[in-house]
Amino acid sequence: MTKVLVATVKPFAPKAVSSIGEILDEAGYELVMLEKYADQASLKNAVKTVDALIVRSDKVDKDIIDAAENLKIIVRAGAGYDNIDLEAATSRDVVVMNTPGQNSNAVAELALGMMVYHARGQFNGKPGTELKGKTLGIHAYGNVGKLVAHIAKGFGMELYAYDPFIDDELIEKDGVNVVKSVEELYKKCQYISLHIPANEKTRRSINYTLLSSMPENATLVNTARKEVIDEDGLMKVMAEREDFSYISDIAPDNADVIQEKFKGRCCFTPKKMGAQTAEANINAGIAAARQIVSFLENGDRTFQVNR
Ligand code: 3PG
Repeated sequence: MTKVLVATVKPFAPKAVSSIGEILDEAGYELVMLEKYADQASLKNAVKTVDALIVRSDKVDKDIIDAAENLKIIVRAGAGYDNIDLEAATSRDVVVMNTPGQNSNAVAELALGMMVYHARGQFNGKPGTELKGKTLGIHAYGNVGKLVAHIAKGFGMELYAYDPFIDDELIEKDGVNVVKSVEELYKKCQYISLHIPANEKTRRSINYTLLSSMPENATLVNTARKEVIDEDGLMKVMAEREDFSYISDIAPDNADVIQEKFKGRCCFTPKKMGAQTAEANINAGIAAARQIVSFLENGDRTFQVNR
């Protein structure tokens, strides 16, 4: 019997798990669950006999892939697949897919929610500021960036975006101004919302030069990945500018120290919360299960990321 392992340190909502179960059951597959596991050894042990694997941000490295002798497909139920060793998967002929767009609304809502929370002094009872009329720079206009634009428009923000991979017309159609360089985006916008993936090109790319060029009362909003931030550069800007804030869904390693040092100018979620909604879990979980069945039954490689 084909075995599918759902391995999630951060578990899906129960409804997502039951929906995945129904899809696999219909295909005649067995669902194996490994939730809130404590270490990589548990994952290594669980993958040994499975044909397919569904994960979230769970680390799937060479060691795990090599231990999974029957593995044919890994689906990252979500967008970013920087947690999966693509090279190791490819060398073992294991297909890797993501489920683009399925959890984007949840992340976009959180980005705007964090912005409101922070602009209102993190609900400290003192007068805050509004988002209306403020400039928002959307750094990368993919599934999340587009939804951030849509919601921010409702707040009456003035929107700008930079994304060299998307046609200008598609961005402009949404009422968003296109800028031609990343430098221009940061120089122009009081708020910057990050939606770039973590890869060789983007790691530590959000640096001192970019951040220090932002206008008065600058706020950097990070619901993407912590790896894209040059933390030394960010700390330098925060130390130099009392008007600079950093709000993030992916807390830096030394979050407590930073929060203490720059009181009221930082806001970090205790755990990555962007995709933590029932809807996002259900959408991404169902998509992952369907993609596995479609690949194993029909060889459908749509959404493969390791071609
Ligand atoms: C993603 O890349 O899809 C998001 O960062 C959500 O990640 P998560 O599934 O670990 O919450």
